[in-house]
Amino acid sequence: MMKILVIGGGGREHAMVWKLAQSPSVERVWCAPGNDGIAEKAECVALDVKNVEQAAQLAARLGADLTVVGPEVPLVAGVADEFLARGLELLGPGKKAAQLEGSKIFAKEFLRRHEIPTARVYGVVEDPAQARRALTGVKWPLALKADGLCAGKGVLVASRAEEAAEFIARVTEGEFGEAGKRLLLEEALSGDELSYIILTDGDRFIPMAPARDHKRAFDGDRGPNTGGMGVFSTGQILPDALELEIIERVVRPTLEGLQAEGLPYRGFLYFGLMVTADGPKVLEFNCRLGDPETEAILLRADFDFAEACARAAAGALGDFEARWLADPSLCVVIASEGYPGAPRTGVPIYGLEEAAKVPGVVIFHAGTRRSGPRFETSGGRVLVVSATGRDMAGARRAAYEAVGRIRIAGSHYRKDIGGAGAGAAQGHAAEMRRG
Ligand code: AMP
Ligand code: GLY
Repeated sequence: MMKILVIGGGGREHAMVWKLAQSPSVERVWCAPGNDGIAEKAECVALDVKNVEQAAQLAARLGADLTVVGPEVPLVAGVADEFLARGLELLGPGKKAAQLEGSKIFAKEFLRRHEIPTARVYGVVEDPAQARRALTGVKWPLALKADGLCAGKGVLVASRAEEAAEFIARVTEGEFGEAGKRLLLEEALSGDELSYIILTDGDRFIPMAPARDHKRAFDGDRGPNTGGMGVFSTGQILPDALELEIIERVVRPTLEGLQAEGLPYRGFLYFGLMVTADGPKVLEFNCRLGDPETEAILLRADFDFAEACARAAAGALGDFEARWLADPSLCVVIASEGYPGAPRTGVPIYGLEEAAKVPGVVIFHAGTRRSGPRFETSGGRVLVVSATGRDMAGARRAAYEAVGRIRIAGSHYRKDIGGAGAGAAQGHAAEMRRG
Protein backbone atom coordinates (compact mmCIF):
# COMPACT_ATOMS: atom_id res chain seq x y z
CA MET A 1 0.00 0.00 0.00
CA MET A 2 1.30 3.44 -0.96
CA LYS A 3 1.26 6.82 0.69
CA ILE A 4 1.41 9.57 -1.91
CA LEU A 5 2.13 13.28 -1.65
CA VAL A 6 0.82 15.48 -4.45
CA ILE A 7 2.50 18.88 -4.86
CA GLY A 8 0.34 21.74 -6.13
CA GLY A 9 -3.01 23.23 -5.34
CA GLY A 10 -5.21 23.72 -8.38
CA GLY A 11 -7.82 21.88 -10.42
CA ARG A 12 -5.20 19.53 -11.85
CA GLU A 13 -4.05 18.49 -8.40
CA HIS A 14 -7.65 18.08 -7.24
CA ALA A 15 -8.22 15.66 -10.14
CA MET A 16 -4.97 13.80 -9.37
CA VAL A 17 -5.90 13.43 -5.71
CA TRP A 18 -9.42 12.32 -6.69
CA LYS A 19 -8.05 9.63 -8.99
CA LEU A 20 -5.21 8.49 -6.70
CA ALA A 21 -7.63 8.10 -3.81
CA GLN A 22 -9.63 5.60 -5.90
CA SER A 23 -6.62 3.34 -6.35
CA PRO A 24 -6.70 0.01 -4.51
CA SER A 25 -2.96 0.34 -3.93
CA VAL A 26 -3.18 3.71 -2.16
CA GLU A 27 -3.44 3.98 1.59
CA ARG A 28 -3.17 7.71 2.00
CA VAL A 29 -2.93 10.90 -0.08
CA TRP A 30 -1.71 14.34 0.99
CA CYS A 31 -1.72 17.49 -1.07
CA ALA A 32 0.68 20.41 -0.52
CA PRO A 33 -0.44 23.09 -0.36
CA GLY A 34 -3.76 21.91 -1.86
CA ASN A 35 -6.83 24.05 -1.47
CA ASP A 36 -9.99 23.91 0.60
CA GLY A 37 -11.85 21.95 -2.09
CA ILE A 38 -9.08 19.34 -2.23
CA ALA A 39 -9.17 19.18 1.58
CA GLU A 40 -12.47 17.30 1.31
CA LYS A 41 -10.58 14.40 -0.31
CA ALA A 42 -7.05 14.57 1.11
CA GLU A 43 -5.21 16.14 4.00
CA CYS A 44 -3.68 19.42 2.83
CA VAL A 45 -0.30 20.45 4.19
CA ALA A 46 1.29 23.90 3.92
CA LEU A 47 4.09 24.27 1.37
CA ASP A 48 5.71 27.02 -0.65
CA VAL A 49 5.98 25.14 -3.96
CA LYS A 50 9.01 27.18 -5.01
CA ASN A 51 10.94 25.87 -2.01
CA VAL A 52 12.34 22.52 -3.10
CA GLU A 53 14.13 21.81 0.18
CA GLN A 54 10.95 22.39 2.11
CA ALA A 55 9.17 19.98 -0.25
CA ALA A 56 11.74 17.26 0.34
CA GLN A 57 11.64 17.78 4.11
CA LEU A 58 7.86 17.52 4.00
CA ALA A 59 7.89 14.26 2.01
CA ALA A 60 10.43 12.80 4.42
CA ARG A 61 8.51 13.94 7.49
CA LEU A 62 5.21 12.53 6.21
CA GLY A 63 6.84 9.27 5.16
CA ALA A 64 5.47 9.50 1.62
CA ASP A 65 6.43 6.54 -0.58
CA LEU A 66 6.01 8.67 -3.67
CA THR A 67 5.67 12.38 -4.47
CA VAL A 68 3.90 13.41 -7.66
CA VAL A 69 4.41 16.98 -8.85
CA GLY A 70 1.59 18.89 -10.52
CA PRO A 71 2.92 22.33 -11.50
CA GLU A 72 6.01 23.32 -13.46
CA VAL A 73 7.47 25.79 -10.96
CA PRO A 74 8.96 23.24 -8.51
CA LEU A 75 10.23 21.06 -11.38
CA VAL A 76 11.98 23.97 -13.07
CA ALA A 77 13.38 24.90 -9.64
CA GLY A 78 14.93 21.43 -9.31
CA VAL A 79 12.62 19.58 -6.92
CA ALA A 80 13.39 16.24 -8.61
CA ASP A 81 17.14 16.73 -8.13
CA GLU A 82 16.60 17.59 -4.47
CA PHE A 83 14.54 14.42 -3.89
CA LEU A 84 17.05 12.28 -5.77
CA ALA A 85 19.91 13.61 -3.66
CA ARG A 86 18.01 12.61 -0.52
CA GLY A 87 16.94 9.20 -1.82
CA LEU A 88 13.26 10.16 -1.93
CA GLU A 89 10.95 8.86 -4.67
CA LEU A 90 9.43 11.52 -6.91
CA LEU A 91 7.74 11.52 -10.30
CA GLY A 92 8.94 14.41 -12.47
CA PRO A 93 11.96 15.42 -14.53
CA GLY A 94 15.12 17.03 -13.16
CA LYS A 95 15.89 20.72 -13.45
CA LYS A 96 17.86 20.44 -16.67
CA ALA A 97 15.21 18.45 -18.57
CA ALA A 98 12.48 20.70 -17.17
CA GLN A 99 14.07 23.49 -19.22
CA LEU A 100 12.00 22.07 -22.07
CA GLU A 101 9.23 24.04 -20.41
CA GLY A 102 11.30 26.54 -18.43
CA SER A 103 12.86 28.14 -21.50
CA LYS A 104 11.09 28.41 -24.85
CA ILE A 105 14.48 29.17 -26.41
CA PHE A 106 16.04 26.01 -24.91
CA ALA A 107 13.05 24.02 -26.17
CA LYS A 108 13.34 25.48 -29.66
CA GLU A 109 17.04 24.70 -29.84
CA PHE A 110 16.35 21.15 -28.63
CA LEU A 111 13.65 20.72 -31.30
CA ARG A 112 16.01 21.92 -33.99
CA ARG A 113 18.90 19.75 -32.79
CA HIS A 114 16.71 16.66 -33.04
CA GLU A 115 14.89 17.67 -36.20
CA ILE A 116 11.47 17.56 -34.60
CA PRO A 117 8.81 19.45 -36.58
CA THR A 118 8.10 22.90 -35.13
CA ALA A 119 7.38 26.47 -36.22
CA ARG A 120 10.14 28.32 -38.08
CA VAL A 121 12.09 30.79 -35.98
CA TYR A 122 12.65 34.43 -36.97
CA GLY A 123 14.85 35.30 -34.07
CA VAL A 124 15.37 36.04 -30.41
CA VAL A 125 15.08 39.62 -29.18
CA GLU A 126 16.06 41.27 -25.92
CA ASP A 127 14.91 44.85 -26.28
CA PRO A 128 12.35 46.93 -28.20
CA ALA A 129 14.94 48.47 -30.55
CA GLN A 130 16.26 45.07 -31.59
CA ALA A 131 12.65 43.89 -31.88
CA ARG A 132 11.72 46.76 -34.21
CA ARG A 133 14.50 45.71 -36.56
CA ALA A 134 13.50 42.04 -36.34
CA LEU A 135 9.84 42.82 -37.07
CA THR A 136 10.65 44.21 -40.51
CA GLY A 137 11.64 40.79 -41.81
CA VAL A 138 8.78 38.60 -40.62
CA LYS A 139 5.56 37.25 -42.08
CA TRP A 140 2.24 38.03 -40.39
CA PRO A 141 0.66 36.72 -38.26
CA LEU A 142 3.62 36.22 -35.95
CA ALA A 143 3.93 34.28 -32.69
CA LEU A 144 5.82 36.05 -29.89
CA LYS A 145 6.85 34.17 -26.76
CA ALA A 146 8.43 35.30 -23.54
CA ASP A 147 11.27 32.84 -22.88
CA GLY A 148 10.48 31.87 -19.29
CA LEU A 149 7.52 30.65 -17.23
CA CYS A 150 4.44 32.88 -17.52
CA ALA A 151 1.55 30.62 -16.46
CA GLY A 152 0.38 30.31 -20.06
CA LYS A 153 0.11 34.06 -20.56
CA GLY A 154 3.46 34.84 -22.17
CA VAL A 155 2.47 34.16 -25.78
CA LEU A 156 0.87 36.45 -28.31
CA VAL A 157 -0.08 35.68 -31.87
CA ALA A 158 0.01 39.15 -33.43
CA SER A 159 -1.41 40.13 -36.78
CA ARG A 160 0.18 43.59 -36.97
CA ALA A 161 3.53 45.17 -36.11
CA GLU A 162 2.03 47.69 -33.66
CA GLU A 163 0.42 44.91 -31.67
CA ALA A 164 3.69 42.95 -31.62
CA ALA A 165 5.73 46.01 -30.61
CA GLU A 166 3.33 46.82 -27.77
CA PHE A 167 3.60 43.24 -26.44
CA ILE A 168 7.40 43.28 -26.72
CA ALA A 169 7.53 46.55 -24.80
CA ARG A 170 5.30 45.20 -22.01
CA VAL A 171 7.28 41.99 -21.72
CA THR A 172 10.76 43.52 -21.85
CA GLU A 173 9.69 46.19 -19.38
CA GLY A 174 9.07 43.48 -16.84
CA GLU A 175 5.45 42.32 -16.94
CA PHE A 176 6.71 38.76 -16.44
CA GLY A 177 9.92 39.69 -14.61
CA GLU A 178 13.01 37.67 -15.55
CA ALA A 179 10.87 35.36 -17.70
CA GLY A 180 10.48 38.17 -20.22
CA LYS A 181 14.13 39.12 -20.61
CA ARG A 182 14.23 37.43 -23.98
CA LEU A 183 11.51 36.75 -26.52
CA LEU A 184 11.29 34.19 -29.26
CA LEU A 185 9.72 35.29 -32.53
CA GLU A 186 8.36 32.47 -34.67
CA GLU A 187 6.09 31.65 -37.54
CA ALA A 188 2.41 31.43 -36.56
CA LEU A 189 1.05 28.04 -37.47
CA SER A 190 -2.54 27.26 -38.25
CA GLY A 191 -4.43 24.03 -37.76
CA ASP A 192 -6.00 22.14 -34.88
CA GLU A 193 -4.33 22.21 -31.49
CA LEU A 194 -3.84 18.98 -29.63
CA SER A 195 -2.49 18.30 -26.16
CA TYR A 196 -0.67 14.98 -26.38
CA ILE A 197 0.75 13.94 -23.04
CA ILE A 198 2.82 10.89 -22.22
CA LEU A 199 3.94 9.29 -18.99
CA THR A 200 7.47 8.02 -19.41
CA ASP A 201 10.01 6.19 -17.28
CA GLY A 202 12.78 7.53 -19.50
CA ASP A 203 12.62 4.58 -21.82
CA ARG A 204 9.07 3.37 -22.31
CA PHE A 205 6.00 5.54 -22.33
CA ILE A 206 2.23 5.38 -22.14
CA PRO A 207 0.11 8.02 -23.87
CA MET A 208 -2.64 9.79 -21.99
CA ALA A 209 -5.98 10.29 -23.72
CA PRO A 210 -5.76 13.18 -26.20
CA ALA A 211 -7.25 16.51 -25.20
CA ARG A 212 -8.01 19.86 -26.73
CA ASP A 213 -7.50 22.94 -24.59
CA HIS A 214 -9.11 26.34 -25.18
CA LYS A 215 -6.44 28.87 -24.23
CA ARG A 216 -8.06 32.12 -25.23
CA ALA A 217 -10.13 33.91 -22.64
CA PHE A 218 -13.30 34.43 -24.67
CA ASP A 219 -15.68 32.61 -26.99
CA GLY A 220 -14.65 32.12 -30.59
CA ASP A 221 -10.98 31.99 -29.55
CA ARG A 222 -10.81 35.70 -28.86
CA GLY A 223 -9.08 37.67 -26.18
CA PRO A 224 -5.78 37.04 -24.41
CA ASN A 225 -4.17 33.66 -23.77
CA THR A 226 -4.90 32.12 -20.39
CA GLY A 227 -3.78 29.04 -18.51
CA GLY A 228 -6.74 27.27 -20.19
CA MET A 229 -10.49 28.03 -20.10
CA GLY A 230 -11.84 24.62 -20.92
CA VAL A 231 -10.98 21.33 -22.53
CA PHE A 232 -12.41 18.16 -23.91
CA SER A 233 -11.06 14.69 -24.44
CA THR A 234 -12.24 12.17 -26.98
CA GLY A 235 -10.53 9.59 -29.16
CA GLN A 236 -12.11 11.30 -32.16
CA ILE A 237 -9.49 14.05 -32.21
CA LEU A 238 -6.73 11.49 -32.63
CA PRO A 239 -7.15 9.07 -35.53
CA ASP A 240 -4.70 6.14 -35.42
CA ALA A 241 -2.67 7.41 -38.36
CA LEU A 242 -2.15 10.79 -36.69
CA GLU A 243 -1.12 9.18 -33.43
CA LEU A 244 1.43 7.03 -35.24
CA GLU A 245 2.83 10.11 -36.93
CA ILE A 246 3.05 11.95 -33.61
CA ILE A 247 4.84 9.03 -32.01
CA GLU A 248 7.29 8.54 -34.86
CA ARG A 249 8.05 12.17 -35.70
CA VAL A 250 7.70 13.83 -32.31
CA VAL A 251 7.61 11.55 -29.28
CA ARG A 252 10.38 9.08 -30.15
CA PRO A 253 12.86 11.71 -31.38
CA THR A 254 12.18 13.70 -28.18
CA LEU A 255 12.80 10.74 -25.89
CA GLU A 256 15.87 9.73 -27.88
CA GLY A 257 17.10 13.32 -27.82
CA LEU A 258 16.73 13.49 -24.05
CA GLN A 259 18.67 10.25 -23.66
CA ALA A 260 21.37 11.34 -26.10
CA GLU A 261 21.82 14.59 -24.16
CA GLY A 262 22.07 12.77 -20.85
CA LEU A 263 18.77 14.14 -19.56
CA PRO A 264 16.95 11.26 -17.88
CA TYR A 265 13.22 11.92 -17.83
CA ARG A 266 10.74 10.23 -15.57
CA GLY A 267 7.38 11.91 -15.49
CA PHE A 268 4.70 13.43 -17.63
CA LEU A 269 5.79 15.11 -20.82
CA TYR A 270 3.27 17.30 -22.58
CA PHE A 271 3.51 17.97 -26.29
CA GLY A 272 1.50 21.04 -27.24
CA LEU A 273 0.93 20.35 -30.92
CA MET A 274 -0.52 22.14 -33.89
CA VAL A 275 -1.81 19.63 -36.41
CA THR A 276 -1.12 21.51 -39.64
CA ALA A 277 -1.72 20.60 -43.27
CA ASP A 278 1.95 19.64 -43.12
CA GLY A 279 1.57 17.25 -40.18
CA PRO A 280 1.91 17.73 -36.42
CA LYS A 281 4.31 20.43 -35.20
CA VAL A 282 5.41 21.19 -31.66
CA LEU A 283 4.25 24.55 -30.26
CA GLU A 284 5.55 23.89 -26.78
CA PHE A 285 6.65 21.30 -24.28
CA ASN A 286 5.42 21.16 -20.73
CA CYS A 287 7.25 19.04 -18.18
CA ARG A 288 4.05 18.02 -16.42
CA LEU A 289 0.39 17.25 -16.90
CA GLY A 290 -1.75 20.06 -18.29
CA ASP A 291 -4.38 22.01 -16.46
CA PRO A 292 -7.30 21.65 -17.30
CA GLU A 293 -6.30 18.69 -19.53
CA THR A 294 -5.72 16.48 -16.48
CA GLU A 295 -9.27 16.95 -15.27
CA ALA A 296 -10.65 15.74 -18.62
CA ILE A 297 -8.09 12.97 -19.00
CA LEU A 298 -8.43 11.46 -15.55
CA LEU A 299 -12.21 11.36 -15.85
CA ARG A 300 -11.66 8.90 -18.69
CA ALA A 301 -8.86 6.90 -17.05
CA ASP A 302 -9.79 3.27 -16.48
CA PHE A 303 -6.56 2.06 -14.90
CA ASP A 304 -4.66 2.32 -11.64
CA PHE A 305 -3.20 5.82 -11.92
CA ALA A 306 -1.17 5.40 -8.73
CA GLU A 307 0.47 2.26 -10.02
CA ALA A 308 1.30 3.95 -13.33
CA CYS A 309 2.91 6.88 -11.50
CA ALA A 310 4.87 4.64 -9.14
CA ARG A 311 6.15 2.47 -11.96
CA ALA A 312 7.25 5.44 -14.05
CA ALA A 313 9.01 7.02 -11.07
CA ALA A 314 10.85 3.76 -10.44
CA GLY A 315 11.90 3.49 -14.10
CA ALA A 316 9.81 0.36 -14.44
CA LEU A 317 6.76 1.04 -16.60
CA GLY A 318 7.35 -2.33 -18.24
CA ASP A 319 4.30 -3.42 -20.16
CA PHE A 320 1.87 -1.30 -18.12
CA GLU A 321 -1.11 -0.38 -20.22
CA ALA A 322 -3.44 2.54 -19.76
CA ARG A 323 -7.08 1.86 -20.57
CA TRP A 324 -9.51 4.63 -21.42
CA LEU A 325 -13.26 4.85 -21.20
CA ALA A 326 -14.88 5.40 -24.59
CA ASP A 327 -17.09 8.16 -23.17
CA PRO A 328 -15.78 11.64 -23.94
CA SER A 329 -15.23 14.22 -21.22
CA LEU A 330 -15.48 17.99 -21.19
CA CYS A 331 -14.52 20.64 -18.65
CA VAL A 332 -15.52 24.28 -18.37
CA VAL A 333 -13.39 26.64 -16.30
CA ILE A 334 -15.20 29.29 -14.31
CA ALA A 335 -12.83 32.23 -13.91
CA SER A 336 -13.05 35.09 -11.46
CA GLU A 337 -13.71 38.64 -12.63
CA GLY A 338 -10.52 40.14 -14.05
CA TYR A 339 -8.81 36.89 -15.07
CA PRO A 340 -6.37 36.51 -16.86
CA GLY A 341 -5.40 39.89 -15.40
CA ALA A 342 -5.67 40.48 -11.64
CA PRO A 343 -8.57 38.29 -10.47
CA ARG A 344 -11.12 39.30 -7.84
CA THR A 345 -10.81 37.14 -4.76
CA GLY A 346 -13.06 36.68 -1.77
CA VAL A 347 -16.22 36.50 -3.90
CA PRO A 348 -18.77 34.00 -2.51
CA ILE A 349 -19.58 30.90 -4.55
CA TYR A 350 -23.20 29.72 -4.58
CA GLY A 351 -24.80 26.58 -5.98
CA LEU A 352 -21.92 24.11 -5.72
CA GLU A 353 -24.02 21.37 -4.18
CA GLU A 354 -26.80 21.71 -6.74
CA ALA A 355 -24.25 21.66 -9.54
CA ALA A 356 -22.59 18.49 -8.25
CA LYS A 357 -25.94 16.67 -8.48
CA VAL A 358 -25.98 16.78 -12.28
CA PRO A 359 -25.35 13.17 -13.41
CA GLY A 360 -21.85 12.61 -14.78
CA VAL A 361 -20.46 15.82 -13.26
CA VAL A 362 -17.40 16.18 -11.04
CA ILE A 363 -16.35 19.63 -9.86
CA PHE A 364 -12.67 20.26 -9.28
CA HIS A 365 -11.58 23.26 -7.25
CA ALA A 366 -8.83 25.42 -8.71
CA GLY A 367 -8.92 28.72 -6.82
CA THR A 368 -11.28 28.44 -3.86
CA ARG A 369 -11.07 28.73 -0.12
CA ARG A 370 -13.55 28.25 2.66
CA SER A 371 -15.15 31.21 4.33
CA GLY A 372 -17.52 30.14 7.07
CA PRO A 373 -20.12 27.77 5.67
CA ARG A 374 -19.32 28.34 2.00
CA PHE A 375 -16.52 28.61 -0.53
CA GLU A 376 -15.25 31.85 -2.01
CA THR A 377 -12.84 32.68 -4.87
CA SER A 378 -9.12 32.73 -4.10
CA GLY A 379 -7.60 32.81 -7.58
CA GLY A 380 -8.14 33.41 -11.30
CA ARG A 381 -9.36 30.02 -12.38
CA VAL A 382 -11.89 29.14 -9.69
CA LEU A 383 -13.66 25.90 -10.60
CA VAL A 384 -13.22 23.30 -13.31
CA VAL A 385 -16.68 21.91 -13.91
CA SER A 386 -16.12 18.53 -15.54
CA ALA A 387 -18.41 15.93 -17.04
CA THR A 388 -18.47 12.73 -19.00
CA GLY A 389 -21.28 11.73 -21.32
CA ARG A 390 -22.14 9.03 -23.79
CA ASP A 391 -21.17 11.45 -26.52
CA MET A 392 -19.71 14.96 -26.71
CA ALA A 393 -23.11 16.59 -26.80
CA GLY A 394 -24.08 14.76 -23.62
CA ALA A 395 -20.86 15.68 -21.81
CA ARG A 396 -21.26 19.30 -22.89
CA ARG A 397 -24.90 19.43 -21.80
CA ALA A 398 -24.06 18.03 -18.38
CA ALA A 399 -21.09 20.35 -17.83
CA TYR A 400 -23.04 23.47 -18.83
CA GLU A 401 -26.08 22.41 -16.83
CA ALA A 402 -23.81 22.30 -13.76
CA VAL A 403 -22.10 25.58 -14.67
CA GLY A 404 -25.53 27.20 -14.89
CA ARG A 405 -26.26 26.24 -11.31
CA ILE A 406 -23.16 28.00 -9.97
CA ARG A 407 -23.26 31.69 -9.20
CA ILE A 408 -20.16 33.82 -8.60
CA ALA A 409 -20.63 37.56 -9.05
CA GLY A 410 -18.62 38.94 -11.97
CA SER A 411 -17.24 35.56 -13.02
CA HIS A 412 -16.89 34.49 -16.64
CA TYR A 413 -16.60 31.26 -18.57
CA ARG A 414 -16.53 30.25 -22.22
CA LYS A 415 -19.80 29.08 -23.67
CA ASP A 416 -18.27 27.31 -26.66
CA ILE A 417 -16.09 24.60 -25.15
CA GLY A 418 -16.25 21.53 -27.36
CA GLY A 419 -18.74 23.02 -29.74
CA ALA A 420 -18.92 24.99 -32.92
CA GLY A 421 -22.14 26.44 -31.51
CA ALA A 422 -21.16 29.76 -30.01
CA GLY A 423 -18.62 31.09 -32.50
CA ALA A 424 -17.11 34.46 -33.02
CA ALA A 425 -20.15 36.70 -32.74
CA GLN A 426 -20.90 35.65 -29.20
CA GLY A 427 -17.24 35.90 -28.25
CA HIS A 428 -17.23 39.47 -29.42
CA ALA A 429 -20.27 40.23 -27.31
CA ALA A 430 -18.56 38.73 -24.27
CA GLU A 431 -15.54 40.91 -24.90
CA MET A 432 -17.65 44.03 -25.15
CA ARG A 433 -19.46 43.21 -21.94
CA ARG A 434 -16.12 42.94 -20.22
CA GLY A 435 -14.63 46.05 -21.76
P1 AMP B 1 2.54 27.95 -25.73
O1 AMP B 1 2.63 28.42 -24.33
O2 AMP B 1 3.80 27.99 -26.51
O3 AMP B 1 1.72 26.73 -25.94
O4 AMP B 1 1.57 29.01 -26.41
C1 AMP B 1 0.28 29.21 -25.93
C2 AMP B 1 -0.68 29.18 -27.08
O5 AMP B 1 -0.30 30.14 -28.05
C3 AMP B 1 -0.72 27.87 -27.84
O6 AMP B 1 -1.53 26.93 -27.25
C4 AMP B 1 -1.25 28.33 -29.16
O7 AMP B 1 -2.65 28.55 -29.09
C5 AMP B 1 -0.59 29.66 -29.34
N1 AMP B 1 0.67 29.48 -30.09
C6 AMP B 1 1.91 29.29 -29.60
N2 AMP B 1 2.80 29.20 -30.58
C7 AMP B 1 2.14 29.35 -31.74
C8 AMP B 1 2.51 29.35 -33.11
N3 AMP B 1 3.78 29.21 -33.51
N4 AMP B 1 1.53 29.52 -34.02
C9 AMP B 1 0.25 29.69 -33.65
N5 AMP B 1 -0.17 29.70 -32.36
C10 AMP B 1 0.76 29.53 -31.41
N1 GLY C 1 -3.54 23.84 -20.34
C1 GLY C 1 -2.25 24.15 -20.77
C2 GLY C 1 -1.20 23.90 -19.80
O1 GLY C 1 -1.40 23.22 -18.81
O2 GLY C 1 -0.10 24.36 -20.02
